Amino acid sequence: MTDLTALEADLIGQIDAAADVAALEAIRVAALGKSGSISGLLKSLGGMSPDERREVGPKINGLRDAVAAAIAARKTTLEDAELDKKLAAEALDLSLPAVPRRKGSVHPTMQTMDEMVAIFADMGFAVAEGPDIEDDFHNFTALNFPEKHPAREMHDTFFFNRKEDGERMLLRTHTSPVQVRTMMSQQPPIRIIAPGRTYRCDSDATHTPMFHQVEGLVIDKAIHMGHLKWTLETFLARFFETDSVTTRFRPHHFPFTEPSAETDVQCDRSGGELKIGQGSDWLEILGCGMVHPNVLRACGIDPTVYQGFAFGMGVDRLAMLKYGMPDLRDMFAGDTRWLSHYGFSAFAAPSQAAGLS
Ligand code: PHE
Repeated sequence: MTDLTALEADLIGQIDAAADVAALEAIRVAALGKSGSISGLLKSLGGMSPDERREVGPKINGLRDAVAAAIAARKTTLEDAELDKKLAAEALDLSLPAVPRRKGSVHPTMQTMDEMVAIFADMGFAVAEGPDIEDDFHNFTALNFPEKHPAREMHDTFFFNRKEDGERMLLRTHTSPVQVRTMMSQQPPIRIIAPGRTYRCDSDATHTPMFHQVEGLVIDKAIHMGHLKWTLETFLARFFETDSVTTRFRPHHFPFTEPSAETDVQCDRSGGELKIGQGSDWLEILGCGMVHPNVLRACGIDPTVYQGFAFGMGVDRLAMLKYGMPDLRDMFAGDTRWLSHYGFSAFAAPSQAAGLS
C-alpha cells in the first residue's frame, strides 16, 4: 500500500515549487489526471474488501481534496504574480513631463500687450474693445477731424468699396474710435484702456500696414494734465521696470485733444544698448492730450461738467524698445527662428505681483 502521507508531502512540495501555471498543470495531470497517481489509488478502491475500503477510502479522498485545494491556491498565487508582472511591464508613468516636439511661444507684441494690461488694470483701468472695421463717424467725425482732413485720404487709410448707400467702411487707423464707443455707451466716470490692431497704408523699418496700439481714456469731473502726466510716468516706470522715468511733453496737434502733446522718454543710447531713465537722449513714445470739448459733445457728454485725458501708444514700438528688436517688420514676418528667439513662454502670464517679463 502506498504511503499516503509521503505521497501528499511529495505532491505539496512539488506544488509549492511550481514556477508557473504550466508546471502546475503538469503536476495536476500527473496526480489527478485520468492516469494520475491519485486517480490510480481511487481506482484501487474497487478491488478492496468493504472493511479495507471503509478505512482507506476517506484517506484517499482526503488526499485528493488536499492536493486539489493546494493546486487551486498555488494557481491563484501564480496567476496574480503573472498579472502583476504584466501590469508592471505595460505601465505608463503619466506623471512624467511630456517631451515637447514643437514649442510654441507668445509673440513679443502679445506679451507686451499683456504687460500693459496688467499695469493699467492695477491702476484701476478696465479693458474696452471696438471693431477693426470702422465707419467714418467713429474713426474721424466724432473725433473732431475736419471734413477735408488729410488723414482721411487714401494714402493713410485703408478704405473698403462704397456700399450702395454711399458709405465707405475703413480699417481703423487708430484705437481712438474706442474712446467714442465707450463714451457713447457709458456714463462718466470712465477709466479704460483699449488694446487692439490698427491699420495704415505705410511700410518701412519703423512702420507696418498693421500695428498695435493701446488707447487710454479717463473722464471725470476734475481731471487735469497733472493726472495724465502722473499716469503716464507711473506706467512707463513700471513697464520699463525702472524706479522712475523722466518724460518730456512736446506740444503737438491731434484734432481730438486740446492741448495735445507727444511724449518722449529720457534714455541713453550711448553704449549701443538702450537704457530708459538715464542719459541725454529722448525717444518718442506716445501721443496724448486733454479730450477736446467737441469730442465730448459728439458723444453726448457735457464738457462744462466733465473733462478728461486720452493717450495712445504703439505696442510694437514699446516691445521693440523693451526687448531690443531692431526692425519692426520682423515682428510680422512669421519667421519661426525669430519667434523662438524673442518669444515668451505661454505659462508665464505677466502680472505686477509675479513679475512682468
Ligand atoms: N490716436 C493717436 C494716434 O494714433 C494717438 C492719440 C490717442 C493721441 C489719444 C492723443 C490722444 O496717433
